Amino acid sequence: MKQRATQSRATMALSILLLFFLLAGTSQAQHLSSPNGRLQLDVALTQRGQPTYTLSLEDRVVIQESQLGIELSGTRSLVDGFSVFSADTTSTDETWSPVWGQERSIRNNYRELAVTLVQSGDGDRSMILRFRLFDDGLGFRYEFPAQNNLRNFIVTGEKSTFDLTGDHTAFWIPGDYDTNEYAYSTTRLSDVDATIGRDANDIAVRTIIGADYVQTPLMLKSDDGLYVNIHEAALQNYPAMNLRVDRERYTLTAQLVPDAVGNAAYLQTPTHTPWRTIIVSADARDILRSRTILNLNEPSRISDTAWIRPAKYVGIWWGMHIGKYTWNYSDVGNTKLGETDWSALPPNGRHGATTENTRRYIDFAADHGFDGVLVEGWNVGWEDWFGQWKEEVFDFVTPYPDFDVEAVTRYAESKGVELIMHHETSASVTNYERRLDEAFAFMKRNGYNSVKTGYVGRIIPRGEHHDGQWMVNHYNRVAEKAAENRIMIDAHEPVRPTGLHRTWPNWLASEAARGNEFNSGWSPTGNPPEHETILPFTRLMGGPMDYTPGIFQIRFEEFAPERMGQMRSTVQTTLAKQLALYVTMYSPLQMAADLPENYEKRLDALKFIEDVAVDWDQTVVAEAEPGDYITIARKAKTGDSWFIGAITDENPRTATINLDFLDAGRDYVATLYLDAPDADFESNPMAYRIETYRVSNRNALRLDLARSGGAAVSIRPASATDEKRIRRYKR
Ligand code: NOJ
Ligand code: CA
Repeated sequence: MKQRATQSRATMALSILLLFFLLAGTSQAQHLSSPNGRLQLDVALTQRGQPTYTLSLEDRVVIQESQLGIELSGTRSLVDGFSVFSADTTSTDETWSPVWGQERSIRNNYRELAVTLVQSGDGDRSMILRFRLFDDGLGFRYEFPAQNNLRNFIVTGEKSTFDLTGDHTAFWIPGDYDTNEYAYSTTRLSDVDATIGRDANDIAVRTIIGADYVQTPLMLKSDDGLYVNIHEAALQNYPAMNLRVDRERYTLTAQLVPDAVGNAAYLQTPTHTPWRTIIVSADARDILRSRTILNLNEPSRISDTAWIRPAKYVGIWWGMHIGKYTWNYSDVGNTKLGETDWSALPPNGRHGATTENTRRYIDFAADHGFDGVLVEGWNVGWEDWFGQWKEEVFDFVTPYPDFDVEAVTRYAESKGVELIMHHETSASVTNYERRLDEAFAFMKRNGYNSVKTGYVGRIIPRGEHHDGQWMVNHYNRVAEKAAENRIMIDAHEPVRPTGLHRTWPNWLASEAARGNEFNSGWSPTGNPPEHETILPFTRLMGGPMDYTPGIFQIRFEEFAPERMGQMRSTVQTTLAKQLALYVTMYSPLQMAADLPENYEKRLDALKFIEDVAVDWDQTVVAEAEPGDYITIARKAKTGDSWFIGAITDENPRTATINLDFLDAGRDYVATLYLDAPDADFESNPMAYRIETYRVSNRNALRLDLARSGGAAVSIRPASATDEKRIRRYKR
């Protein structure tokens, strides 16, 4: 009773206030400019009380008047019948330092507009549209304040639209509820046809939405040269957003990933959605420079972050993908956790994760300065892991008979190398959650401080999707629990990142895209030459990717016996391009993915991977065009070294980079890892040459890249002895 009374009093108060504001003439249309005045936002209500927004860059419209709204189940949707109750404008200009990142400090400079809307009728309800306008883009979200007429509610759809001005070129992958591991298509919006994803048999689980759906981050380019990137920030307690493409009107509409019964999200006020983001510039390099998605995320929830360390690692991994090793110990199938005695099974003789082989990898890591060794296939269950959709596959604590956890831990410790745990969940997530405390305790007991998780397969709870609200909450729960245990995370097959690594900096990297593993031979198409020039403009907008670069043995036929039965026989890049990826593909966690024996044959090229940093003081995007090329320079966070990466697609090109970022009046030594003159990703991919020069901030490097080639450069301050030995660069 008492509650009722409060409720109606509150409703009445709201109605009176609303009337007051309407009479006082609170404007129904709002305008906001970005800090430098170049981006313009207009927010208005239609005749029917539907909220809309329009975004312009100087005199060019980027997003035409586009509708906003949230659809609910069992009650009136929050899409129309609104009036503006209040509109508040504020500004923020601050600088913060990420725990790790592409630069030491990040400026967060925006103007904010919060429009409080009231939907009157059978019980007034309010919703706030919050817009943050940066100089390089816009973030907006829906907020649902605590109120009597909206408490627990079910979202069935979101009507956020992005009405584009024309038939832009789009860099897209098919809209899908379970995977982001597609190769990109580059077409006009009118030519989007996501059903091509039906042929992608190299992806374990696909749930394509329909012909008209694509995923975010979506990269667009207009005919008049505007680059527009659409994604989201701070995805928590909500499903991921795909986009439906109207191929005639060029309007994109949010399509949320549904749950097992067809709803999108279960929310309780006070709450809000993630941010929808639009980043825009006439210069493609600005898209890569944008930190708007990070800025829209909450600051770190971890106060003592000293234990979080960017790292380079090697692993017993590529060997399984190329068919040299197996994850499973035995070839006998139908094993059962709790019943099978693995020590009684016949070993298949090709198991990669043996104590002895792990020692060899630890030695290699110690000799070449790698921080960690990942060991996949160390625990029982792999005989029966793929495609079974079964609940109990792994327990995450029982090693195979030939893997002595304590011995390898002791050995790694004695060599100053850390072991990286592997938890393949086979997407049986209920099982993983049940066992997580024990699994983390096992890790800590055995000296593991980081874990690579994996979600290959159809999700259990059955009917849920990788990118739905339930799974989004799962990934975040794991990150939080890992933080409590001082564990770092590298998640494979999770939802694609949205900048949450600002909030959970122990979540170093994710896969959530088509990684280098697709080049290992089991995929009929692999990754086409343009792939790595698109990823930074799409998937990497949300956060670092564990792409696993560094393949030196590009052509597999040279060790043919173990490759019997593989589908393809080459990675589609040159060796030098594999090196350049350590710079162009930002991640605080970088793998040297190839086999130690392949590195040992080319120690001079391995030197670049040994030297390259994984945490940065400064980043310079020198050249960039999605689908074509990227040239980036980064200064290491500690010391005075710089590293450059330049890559190209299937066309040869000369990359140019001015070294004016170096300290004036100082001499440096630059080591250039280049495609050999006759290198070519198809006919001669492993041909490289290494040249060393003295350089200064007055030089500009010209780097010749082969077809699908690259160049990697390391630059360090010169010493007195370098003076005489090393010739000066001539340009
Ligand atoms: C897929 C992951 O991307 C890959 O890195 C891993 O080796 C396999 N799953 C097995 O967990
Ligand atoms: Ca994968």
